Order: sequence, then structure tokens, then C-alpha cells
Amino acid sequence: MSKLQQILDYILFIGLSNNSHGIHSPFVFDLYNEVLNVRKEYYFFRAIEGIRQSLLQNHTEIEMVDLGAGSVLGTTSKRKISSIAATSLQSPKQAALLFRIVDYFQPNTIIELGTSLGITTCYMAMPLKKSKFISIEGNPELSAIATSVCRKLGANQVICKTGSFEAHLEPSLNELKQVDLMFFDGNHRYKPTWQYFTSALPYTTENSVFIFDDIYWSKEMKAVWQQIKNHPQVTVTIDLYKFGLVFFRTGQHKQHFKLRV
Ligand SMILES: C[S@@+](CC[C@H](N)C(=O)[O-])C[C@H]1O[C@@H](n2cnc3c(N)ncnc32)[C@H](O)[C@@H]1O
Repeated sequence: MSKLQQILDYILFIGLSNNSHGIHSPFVFDLYNEVLNVRKEYYFFRAIEGIRQSLLQNHTEIEMVDLGAGSVLGTTSKRKISSIAATSLQSPKQAALLFRIVDYFQPNTIIELGTSLGITTCYMAMPLKKSKFISIEGNPELSAIATSVCRKLGANQVICKTGSFEAHLEPSLNELKQVDLMFFDGNHRYKPTWQYFTSALPYTTENSVFIFDDIYWSKEMKAVWQQIKNHPQVTVTIDLYKFGLVFFRTGQHKQHFKLRV
């Protein structure tokens, strides 16, 4: 998608989005004021950011086997760990937001699609020491680094599965039996995103939360986000521009919010 289109989308989002004044749902009002629009530092953020800094200084090259959007299946090329750490991960601010969402909902089961170096995984795992947490990554070298990052930071409950989402998602869902929170952060294309969403749907409860990254990243992501919003099982959605949050709360009429954080 062109830079101009991205700027136009952002201007439109700013024009259509609200802060807490426009929120008439008590559930979303509380979520906004207690979680989404809050800045809080926790002691372990510093430990995770210390590891991010060391990855940013690590110029070792690893083989890329990206199964996701923007690459051709089966091609390999080398990339420095420092470059992946600089460009592929959620920023400290975005990762802290994900931490707060996880901390608020306290899911017992969580799936992340796209572990990369495990930095965001650790943010999300910190409030969930007793939960079952599966993170899936197709690149074996990245998955190995992520496992060691999780262990270094004490996120021992995280199981990093190595292989494609296509191969690992269904067995992971079966293993967990239900998914309380799912973070979709890889392979940002229409068809696969829709497929991951519909595969996970039967495992949701009315308290499940899905978080989609980069909902304005491309035409395909914008289209799949619209389709997800329209799904009959989806009741509340919150568009934060960077992330799209999806809820399945029963007894609540369908409502879509656009909020600035
Ligand atoms: C944007 S990165 C994830 C970033 C990570 N969540 C973070 O913020 O630290 C997306 C990752 O998904 C992986 N990926 C993309 N498509 C995949 C697929 N179909 N199966 C398995 N892994 C895939 C890529 O190898 C890449 O490391």
C-alpha cells in the first residue's frame, strides 16, 4: 500500500476516532480508562528492554525462512538479528499496551502467531505465570532465540512451537481446548488471517479476546478486518489503528469503536 494511502487512512482514523468522551459502553469505557489509555512502567519492562538492546547490538546473521506476507514461500536469505530486532518487533510502547491488556483480562490460555525474537511474547507472558501460553514461529533460528529469551526472563510457561501457523495452530487449539486470548502477529494477508480467525473461533468463549496487528497495513488487512467485524459471533470491536481488538461478549449488541491511545 502506498505511503500516501497510509497517511490518508491515518488522517481518516484521527477524524473518526474518539477518546473516552464518545464511549457509551461501560465495558469499553473501563477498558479504555483502566488499560488502553494508561501509561505505567513495571520493573520487568527494564529487564525485557535490556534484552532488546542486546539483540539490537547482535549483528549475527541468521537464515530467513519467512512464511508470511512479503516473502515468497521457500526462498531463503540471511538477515542480521539486529535488523530483525529493529524492524519486526512491537515497539516498547505497543508491547506495554499488550502487557496491560493481558494483565487486565488474565487469560488462562493464550496463543501468539509470530514469536520472532520473543520480546513481545515476554511482555504478554509476565502477568500469566500460571497460564498456558503457546507461541508459534516458522523460522527455527528465531524460535530458538525466542525460547532462550523467554527462559532468561523467567517466562518458563511459554511453549515456543517451531513451524508454520498452518501446521501448528489447529493442534495447539486442540491442546488448549479453548483460547482466551490470541495475538495475530504474522502473515498479514487476507486469506491466511481469515483462516486463522475462523480456525480459532470454535475455541472461543464469550470472554475471549483476539488482537490483530497492523489492521491498516495493506488493502488485504483492511478488508479482512472489515470481514472480521461483520462476523456474527463478533460483538464488540475496538480499532486502535495499530491493533484491532475483537470481543465475543454475549448479551451485548454489536458495536464498533475507533479509539485514540
Ligand atoms: C512481525 S513478526 C512477530 C513479531 C513479534 N510478535 C514481536 O512483536 O516481537 C512475524 C513473525 O511471524 C513469522 N511468520 C509469518 N508467517 C508465518 C507462518 N505462516 N507460519 C509461521 N510463522 C510465520 C515470521 O517468521 C515472523 O518472525
